Amino acid sequence: MSGRRHAAIAGVGSALPDRVVPNSFFESILDTSDEWIRQRTGIGERRFAADGQTTSDLATAAVRSALDAAGIAPDQLDLIICATLTPDTPIPAAAVWTQRKLGIGCPAFDVNAACAGFSFALSTGAAFIESGAAETVAVIGAEVLSRVLDLTDRSTCVLFGDGAGAVVLRPSDAPGLIGSVLGTDGKAAEILIIPAGGSARPASAESVAGREHSIRMPSGREVFKRAVTEMAGACRELLDKSGFEPGDVDLLIPHQANSRIMVAVAERLGIAMERAVVDVEEIGNTSAASIPIALDRAWRAGRIGPEALVLLTSFGAGLAWGANLLRWTAPEPAS
Ligand SMILES: CC(C)(COP(=O)(O)OP(=O)(O)OC[C@H]1O[C@@H](n2cnc3c(N)ncnc32)[C@H](O)[C@@H]1OP(=O)(O)O)[C@@H](O)C(=O)NCCC(=O)NCCS
Repeated sequence: MSGRRHAAIAGVGSALPDRVVPNSFFESILDTSDEWIRQRTGIGERRFAADGQTTSDLATAAVRSALDAAGIAPDQLDLIICATLTPDTPIPAAAVWTQRKLGIGCPAFDVNAACAGFSFALSTGAAFIESGAAETVAVIGAEVLSRVLDLTDRSTCVLFGDGAGAVVLRPSDAPGLIGSVLGTDGKAAEILIIPAGGSARPASAESVAGREHSIRMPSGREVFKRAVTEMAGACRELLDKSGFEPGDVDLLIPHQANSRIMVAVAERLGIAMERAVVDVEEIGNTSAASIPIALDRAWRAGRIGPEALVLLTSFGAGLAWGANLLRWTAPEPAS
């Protein structure tokens, strides 16, 4: 291999739980409506994991699907990175349970940058490949958010769903992953938070009774505004530093939080919605899993051709955000 070593996507896959939860489920337990949820978020339904189904169950299925797409056997993986805020257990990591279910023995660890986790995990996986420290890396985004929802809080519980997506990275002569931009603003930590269950507020009878182990979002509007600003800003910065214009982007895949956020990001960038993936109607917000799920579904739908320029961008608690620019190198989906 000559020149700098790069990382490229060799395969992508995803996995969703079977149970479809339409907005009517929330109409039956809360003062809300299908119309309100669709108008404000674009969400029509989401998937919830079955009892006993864990993040690593979904992650394992997504990795297997990505490995199949790449024509690579599980034992060729030499690193597993899982972005998640809902690991099966605080320790070991979801990546470790995934490794065990794949029946292999490579290093495995989790990355937690909340809904922006996949951007951070993808940059990390690529850095391992570019430095020569790894050859074949599975980068996963996987969540079972249904276990951290307060089903009495209509402003949050209608937004989220469960699922997993994964890519397999391999070394390449030309860049697959052209570049990344990552950002974090800890000053806004409280506006999207699970308050209890960590060292600040360990689990107690009070924390459970107060539903403090669930996602809290005291100002959805502020989150909305920052999501638009930071995703559009990260994309612009990344395109500038990589020598591309928004007009060069074949497909924009924003974090699937809310269709209005995605429309606003695309508008700010001057990218027409025909060149953006909006999957939120059927999937909801699956946090760190949303981008690789949307990527996989777009690829299987034939929306990502060879050499396509694909721009991913994410935003979530932290606040944290990111953007990754890819030249698409994975094989065509099997027909
Ligand atoms: C949550 C969100 C959809 C709310 O939409 P909004 O237009 O900002 O609405 P507001 O929060 O101002 O609330 C407006 C009203 O709707 C109500 N409301 C909130 N959720 C509701 C629901 N599910 N059904 C019906 N009414 C609801 C509020 O209680 C409020 O009522 P009030 O005016 O009587 O107090 C929107 O702010 C959003 O999408 N924010 C980003 C959230 C997100 O993506 N977070 C994850 C990022 S990773």
